Amino acid sequence: MRGSLADPDLNAKAEALLGKMTLDEKVGQLVQYSSGQPTGPGTGRTDYEDMIAKGEIGALFNITNAHASNAFQRIAVDKSRLHIPILFGLDVIHGFRTEFPVPLALASTWDPALVEKTARVAAREASATGIRWAFSPMVDIARDARWGRMIEGAGEDPFLGSAMAVAYVRGYQGMRLDAPDSIAACAKHYVGYGAAEGGRDYAATEISEPTLRQIYLPPFHSAVKAGTASIMSAFNTLNGIPTSANAFTLKKVLREEWGFQGIVDSDWTSLVELIPHGIANDGATAARRAFLAGVDMDMVSSLYHDHLAHLVQTGQVPEITIDEAVRHVLRVKFALGLFEHPYADESKESAAMLRPEYIQLARDAAERSFVLLKNSAGPGATPLLPLSKSVGKIAVIGPLANDPANMLGSWTGQGRPEDATTLQASLVSRLGKENVLFARGTGISEGSDQEIGEAVATAQKGDLVILALGEHASEMTGEAASRTKLGLPGRQQELLEKIVATGKPVVLVLFSGRPLTLPWAFEHVPAVLAAWFPGVQAGPALVRVLFGESNPTGKLVVSWPRSVGQEPLYYNALNTGRPANKVDLSRPPADTESKFVSRYIDEQSSPQFPFGYGLSYTSFSYSPTQISTKELKASALRTGLRDSKQGSLTVTAPVTNSGQRAGEELVQLYIRLTGTSVAQPVRALKGFQRITLGPGETKNVTFTLGPDAFTIWSDQNQFAIEAAHVTVWVSPDSAQGSPAELEIVP
Ligand code: NOJ
Repeated sequence: MRGSLADPDLNAKAEALLGKMTLDEKVGQLVQYSSGQPTGPGTGRTDYEDMIAKGEIGALFNITNAHASNAFQRIAVDKSRLHIPILFGLDVIHGFRTEFPVPLALASTWDPALVEKTARVAAREASATGIRWAFSPMVDIARDARWGRMIEGAGEDPFLGSAMAVAYVRGYQGMRLDAPDSIAACAKHYVGYGAAEGGRDYAATEISEPTLRQIYLPPFHSAVKAGTASIMSAFNTLNGIPTSANAFTLKKVLREEWGFQGIVDSDWTSLVELIPHGIANDGATAARRAFLAGVDMDMVSSLYHDHLAHLVQTGQVPEITIDEAVRHVLRVKFALGLFEHPYADESKESAAMLRPEYIQLARDAAERSFVLLKNSAGPGATPLLPLSKSVGKIAVIGPLANDPANMLGSWTGQGRPEDATTLQASLVSRLGKENVLFARGTGISEGSDQEIGEAVATAQKGDLVILALGEHASEMTGEAASRTKLGLPGRQQELLEKIVATGKPVVLVLFSGRPLTLPWAFEHVPAVLAAWFPGVQAGPALVRVLFGESNPTGKLVVSWPRSVGQEPLYYNALNTGRPANKVDLSRPPADTESKFVSRYIDEQSSPQFPFGYGLSYTSFSYSPTQISTKELKASALRTGLRDSKQGSLTVTAPVTNSGQRAGEELVQLYIRLTGTSVAQPVRALKGFQRITLGPGETKNVTFTLGPDAFTIWSDQNQFAIEAAHVTVWVSPDSAQGSPAELEIVP
């Protein structure tokens, strides 16, 4: 990639500029404030113009239009002594003006090429306003649906998470970082933020090194390998040390092991939060600890501005470390071509937004992100979905049927409710007003008997009911939106039960930023579609899928719990010494055999739907998994002898479309290693492929596994390929598939 951070040209430019800078100007490059709509507590200050003129600010964010960014930029370029441009950032999370499905939904497409395209569009729109830095992708592994920020990431798996991390970085940064429509990516929140205790946002995390190395770090490492220009340190403590002052993760892993050359930015006030964390009693100490641990830039806390120069002058922070941090910042600014093109072209700004091809992509992405959870018999013993063209009158009911603002999800960038098309609006344009009845039934979190009564009456007049239920996107998902209850909020469950009691066929469309625990619905409603928050094309995408013009292909990227008490719940768990998979977990433990196993006495251990699960309007059957060899050699794997028979493994499974319609299947490959020095997950995803099959058609799906697939973090505290027994599955989800077995010999 041209303009990449390793380019010696960039170093030379940064070095030359650094040589001219005073200490205060250097510190200025490490200071970042928010201007505009705050996205955290307080903003620190408001006298930015003066500070910019004095070279005291390196980056600003939350400015969302070209006029405002240019005004600040003019001060930096014209008035500051060294004319160093400001880097403008924003939470461009799943689109800028064209809002795509939320990241959890985008991940459910399992389609990195598609996700890359959405990030490219976001880069084009955002850069048109002068924003050259997205605080995205969020690559935090999320194993606990209570955590509201699950919506912002790619779910629970590091392999898929890595693929998505790369897709976003490539999409934002494009072929050349210095192209005017490329923006710097920021992989966040480094690291372990998603493992918050109890799923409570900002809470502490305790993560063992094997789990850190094998689960939480890989998506960050992949983002670094893909060239991400920045990393954001997180809010949480990790094994007692706050991640925004953690030399192990920030220096040893990120810089020394991975060779990262870009900016480490703090999260919003995460530096001053070192004080409540208890590792600093004053701002100066917090600044010193964070800086020496490897945080280059201070987002909003103002501690670097207030203390860093003094810390250098009093010998508490060496100036060479300041130089190094400034180099990181300048290199990114040079790489982006900011010195040559500091301004956005205001005349082109509005034409850059919501272009027809972006809207088309938004619809496509939404269609591919839906996960069909259940589709059992409607009238006439055939599955209820897809709906037939002669369905008759549809009663569309529920608080999310006609709520454009909520379709945009959390972190809506510059997305506007008027850009979004709802399910109800699309049904009306498809079927005509006379064929669509509507009742809200209840609000998302509050409702009245009267409204519920009206909805029941409306349902009775329809031939079929589509219920649109779920969460409030911005209040119940995203940052600071952890929940202890994962059912339908407010009176929606009551509405659901009353509508089902009418006896009308019901399709439930769920809008949410996480899986919701709805055992009653999964038992009593014939068809359930997880729609997440689909973005601006919510309605058109849903209508196409509901009527079968598009066949669902999305699969879950998080395990779907039966009950909150199962959380954290994830497929790639370690086994126990007393696994429960041999006893009937649907029954209470009656005898000693079923009592003394790892289980709950009041709930099954298995999820409602496993990771990787999702139905189609057709069906697929998998023939047994075949492998190229019964024996791999650890030594051949280590030396990367991919061509040798013992240095790589080829896995094949014939997959057949056993249904009546053409369809796409996402074929997954999992492995388990036993006999290793450190216990490994009961299954770990190591590959996925998408195939399209006509009715009756069969394809051989082939995967090749090299050393990476078999590398673990060993008891010697290093990555290693050990002798092991290997089980391999090619399967439609993480709970099925026929195993094949082999050995890795020394
Ligand atoms: C806090 C959030 O944790 C982070 O994800 C976001 O990028 C910053 N605020 C800036 O808005």
